[in-house]
Amino acid sequence: MTTVATKPFADQKPGTSGLRKKVPVFQQPHYAENFIQSVFDSLEGFEGKTLVIGGDGRYFNREVIQTAIAMAAANGFGKVMVGQGGILSTPAASHVIRKYKAFGGLILSASHNPGGPHEDFGIKYNTGNGGPAPEKITDAIFEKSKTISRFLIADIGKVDIDTIGKSDAAGMTVEVIDPVADYAELMETLFDFDAIRRLFKSGFRVRFDAMHAVTGPYAKEILEKRLGAPDHTARNYHPLPDFGGHHPDPNLVHAKHLYDEMMGPEAPDFGAASDGDGDRNLIIGKGIFITPSDSLAMLAANAHLTPGYKAGLKGIARSMPTSGAADRVAEKLGVGMYETPTGWKFFGNLLDAGMATICGEESAGTGSDHVREKDGLWAVLLWLNILAVRSESAKEIATKHWATYGRNYYSRHDYEEVESDKANALVDELRAKLASLPGTTVRGLKIEKADDFAYHDPVDGSVSKNQGIRILFEGGSRAVIRLSGTGTSGATLRLYVERYEPDPARHDLDTQEALADLLGAADDIAGIRAHTGRKGPSVIT
Ligand code: G6P
Ligand code: ZN
Repeated sequence: MTTVATKPFADQKPGTSGLRKKVPVFQQPHYAENFIQSVFDSLEGFEGKTLVIGGDGRYFNREVIQTAIAMAAANGFGKVMVGQGGILSTPAASHVIRKYKAFGGLILSASHNPGGPHEDFGIKYNTGNGGPAPEKITDAIFEKSKTISRFLIADIGKVDIDTIGKSDAAGMTVEVIDPVADYAELMETLFDFDAIRRLFKSGFRVRFDAMHAVTGPYAKEILEKRLGAPDHTARNYHPLPDFGGHHPDPNLVHAKHLYDEMMGPEAPDFGAASDGDGDRNLIIGKGIFITPSDSLAMLAANAHLTPGYKAGLKGIARSMPTSGAADRVAEKLGVGMYETPTGWKFFGNLLDAGMATICGEESAGTGSDHVREKDGLWAVLLWLNILAVRSESAKEIATKHWATYGRNYYSRHDYEEVESDKANALVDELRAKLASLPGTTVRGLKIEKADDFAYHDPVDGSVSKNQGIRILFEGGSRAVIRLSGTGTSGATLRLYVERYEPDPARHDLDTQEALADLLGAADDIAGIRAHTGRKGPSVIT
C-alpha cells in the first residue's frame, strides 16, 4: 500500500451525471486518482465490501479501471467485480450492484459524448441501490476534492481484466464477470421472450444500431442469440474506444442514417439505437420517429401487456423538460405522476420508495424500477414485447395513442458550445424578468406563469433549486430554458417547447411548423439569438 501526496484540482465538481472532462484533463498526473479518492473519502462503511467497476470501453477506460482496482484494494474494499475487458453498460452495472448487493460502483463513461485521445471521459459513482449518487454525496465528493492531500493505492501490478474468474490483489478479491449474462437474465424475467421470438419468426425485421459503443455485445446476445433475430440485426456492434470516430448519441443528427433508413422504401419494421454507455434509446418505427417523451407515455400506457409490469404501474416520473404526454397516461391510469429535475439521480428515491415504476426523460432516457439507471435495450425490448402482443405497427400504436390522449408536439433546440459568459448573461436576464412576464402576450400567446423550477423531493424532503426556467402559456403550451449539465466545453443552452393538440384532425402536422410560434415567442422573451449571436440551434431533436 502506498500513500501518495497530492494537491487538489479545482474543477472536480460532478455534473448532471458524474465528472466529465476531456481525456487530456483526466490524463494529468493524479487527476483520476484524486477524484476516486474523493469518492472513497466521502463514503463510510465500505471496508470488506464489494465495489463494481466497469465502463463503456471508451479511450482511457482500461487505464482508469486498473487505477480504480488498485485504489479500491488500498482503501479496504474486500472485493471488486469488474466487467470482462472493462466493459459494463450503465444499466448492467446498476443491475450487478443490486443483484450482488455491492456497496456501490464506479462507472467509467461520458455517455453519449465522443471518445478518443482528445474527446471525453468520465467517472460516476453509484450507490448500493444501483443508482447515481444523490446530490448530497456528489456535493461531498466535490468538497473532499477541494482539500485532498493524499490518495491510497496498492502496488499490485497490472490486473488481468480479460479472463473471467477470481484472483487476489493485495488481499482483495478481483472477480472478472461476463458483462452481459446477468443483464440478459434479468431481461428474460421482464419480457415475454417467446412472444418476441414468434414476432421475429413471422418476418418482423428490426435494425438496432449500437453505434460502435457498449450495447453491441448485449444486442448480439439478446436480440440475435436469445430471441432469434437474423444476423446483422445489430449494426456497428463492435465497441470501439473512439466509437469509430462518431458521436455515440442516438438522436436524429448522429443517427441520421437510421432515420433515413426507417423513412425509406426498404425500411425494416422497427429501428432503434443506443448510446455510448447503453442507457439511452432512440425509437423509430417504420415511417415514424417516436419522440422520447411520447415513447415514455406509450410504454407506460402499454406496459401492463408484458410480464414484468402486468400488475400495473405504481406511478410515472418524468424530468421537468420532458413533455406532459405521460401525465395524461398517469391520469387515466389513476396513478401518481412526478416531475423531477433533469438527471436520472432524481428518480432514485421515487423508485426506492415504490412510488414510481416507469421513468423517462426527453434526453432519450427511459427506464423502470428493474434497475436504477435508464436502460436503452430495456426500452427496445419493452417496445418489441408490446408490438408482439398488439400485433400492430409502431405507427398504428402511436396514432391510436394520440387519438386517445391527444398529442403533445414537442421539440428541443440546442445551442452548443456557446461562450459561458453569454449563456449565463441570458439566463440571468431572463431570471430577472420572470416576475413581470405573467399576463403579457408574445406573438399572440398569453403567458400564464413563469418560474425557475424547484424540486421538493417527496421522499427525503430535499430541495433542488434553479433547475430550469419555465414559461407557461395559456392552453397548456410551454417553453423551458436551461443550461446543460453534461457538456465539457463552453455552455450548451437548451430550449424545449411543447404544445398540446387534442384534435386528431391536427395530429399529422410537421413538428417544427406546429411549434413555430412558440419557438419565436421563446426567442423574443429570452433573446437567444441576440445573446448567443447564433442564427439558429446547432441540434434540433
Ligand atoms: C444524462 C443524464 C440524464 C440527463 C441528460 C441530459 O444523460 O443521465 O439524466 O437528462 O444527461 O442532461 P443535460 O444536463 O445535458 O441536459
Ligand atoms: Zn448514456
